[in-house]
Amino acid sequence: MCGIIGYIGQNQASPILLAGLKRMEYRGYDSSGVALINGRKLKVFKKEGKLRALQEELGKYQPDSFIGLGHIRWATHGAPTDLNAHPHLDCQKKIAIVHNGIIENMGELKEGLKAAGHQFISETDSEIFAHLIEKYHQNSILEEAVAKALKAVRGAYGLAVLSEKEPDKIVAARLGSPLVIGLLPQNDYLVASDVSALLPFTKQVVYLEDGDIAVLSRQGYEIIKADGQKNHHQPEEVNWDLEQAEKGGFEHFMLKEIMEEPQVIKDSVRGRIILEAGNVKLGGLIDVMDKLAQAKRFIFVACGTAHYACRIGEYLIESQVGIPAEVDYASEFRYREAVLEPGTVVAAISQSGETADTLAAIKQAKKLGALTLGIVNVVGSSVARETAAGVYNHIGPEISVASTKAFVSQLVILVLFAILLGRQRSLTKERAQEIIKELLLLPAKAEAILKNQGQIEVIAKKYCQSKNFIFIGRKLNYPIALEGALKLKEISYLHAEGYPAGELKHGPLALIDESWPVVALIPQDSVYEKNLSNLSEVRARKGKIIAVATTGDEKIRELADEIIFIPKTLEILYPILTVIPLQLLAYFIAKERGCPIDQPRNLAKSVTVE
Ligand code: M6R
Repeated sequence: MCGIIGYIGQNQASPILLAGLKRMEYRGYDSSGVALINGRKLKVFKKEGKLRALQEELGKYQPDSFIGLGHIRWATHGAPTDLNAHPHLDCQKKIAIVHNGIIENMGELKEGLKAAGHQFISETDSEIFAHLIEKYHQNSILEEAVAKALKAVRGAYGLAVLSEKEPDKIVAARLGSPLVIGLLPQNDYLVASDVSALLPFTKQVVYLEDGDIAVLSRQGYEIIKADGQKNHHQPEEVNWDLEQAEKGGFEHFMLKEIMEEPQVIKDSVRGRIILEAGNVKLGGLIDVMDKLAQAKRFIFVACGTAHYACRIGEYLIESQVGIPAEVDYASEFRYREAVLEPGTVVAAISQSGETADTLAAIKQAKKLGALTLGIVNVVGSSVARETAAGVYNHIGPEISVASTKAFVSQLVILVLFAILLGRQRSLTKERAQEIIKELLLLPAKAEAILKNQGQIEVIAKKYCQSKNFIFIGRKLNYPIALEGALKLKEISYLHAEGYPAGELKHGPLALIDESWPVVALIPQDSVYEKNLSNLSEVRARKGKIIAVATTGDEKIRELADEIIFIPKTLEILYPILTVIPLQLLAYFIAKERGCPIDQPRNLAKSVTVE
């Protein structure tokens, strides 16, 4: 949700800012802009549309500058236009700001500033920062003016500010929106919303915490709290490669990320298995193992795809651990008046670790006294910091807006988690060993599914003109039906719904005719026969059936129009395999329809606003 970047150093700023913005394009892509100081003059370039438009604009002027800010926008307040694009300026056009987040008390602040004579030219909430800082900068140095402005604001921000009065300084601040400083040789500095923007230049980073204000100058950097006290954070080394954040010859990040899934499964289990003991070791949970042994109830919270992973977590905890588990949308949990008895664990799953609703749900759970856990991909992200303990996916950056490899990794980690907690209770060593052994075979099985992508592409071509799809599954594959429908919706803009297979006859069956493809998840598990009956009901209404079934299943041939076979595995592991053909199906349908796959309209990768 918007990406911001700042650079100060010995090199030309605009190519560096553009390269950083390019890597944050997945966070927003409806307009972009940069502010540069050239001599002592502030210059701003901004353009509606994709980053290419800004690149062309800068190409015309070739500005000469060694300090600047950049922004890529996902509109919240105000349409995506040149005027609403960041950076925003104060009345005198001497201060530029870029902002990611939201100002909740926009109305009252704007009225007050207008009454004092400030003139607003955009519809954004962010412009308020420029005018507030202008007000305080008259009598204070920039960082003090920023600190005063922040005190007046209610909301969330990742903010970076430039001022003509102090042309060798960037001031940045964070509250609720991520911000990380990149340390380059020779006192060159970057600050950005996301480490992926820093990767072409450095792996040495300093994560800012909520409430931090950072001052970057040619002499060095310092971090202060709003009360003026210094804050020191150790620099950390990012363990992601630049190559991981690039397309590597694939047409889209989404396809690249799906193709990485066999490796993702390996990376998610690496170093975490103790086969002889029939157990797993999750380093990030060591400090809370005693509390987990006493846990009486689990509540999972997440949004979107991560929420569907949680739904599988619910099945796994109940079946393997034997304690009650439930799932809530993070956006609901945060406002629900949940009753949490002692022994409740609230676990959040989030690829980015920055989803505003998930973060708020965790804060709420902490307030209610629960032990909080996180399953997070982005190291050092807000959810990782806010939770008491957790597990990292360790699968490298996920760039495509549609989450694929992160989901697969989340499922693998949930299985490990269920084994860990199960072994603290009544899960036998032999059963745990059986699951672990089968888990270790999954990368090869996922590879086999990916090799079959040609067949899935053919199916996609055949059905890509259908306007409506239904996805069905039972038990552990019901959340996969939901996820398959979400994937198709978000990247192909087609109507798709996921249902528990048993629910079809309670209403949705009325929709079925030859124009509605039904994508059925029907592996040979404990509910296979039940699913067969449901498919017969679809067949009788002339519905077209695309089945995801287990290799060697002959019965399904009598019912399905298309069959995508997946290798046999344990019932609890099937979702890790059944989701892969659905991701590919969505990908190829969207491609056939000419959709912008990695950057679907109206969406952003990290949803840092409510
Ligand atoms: O970063 P998170 O996992 O917290 O993101 C949650 C959702 O916003 C995300 O999964 C979203 O639904 C994806 N676009 C789905 O592909």
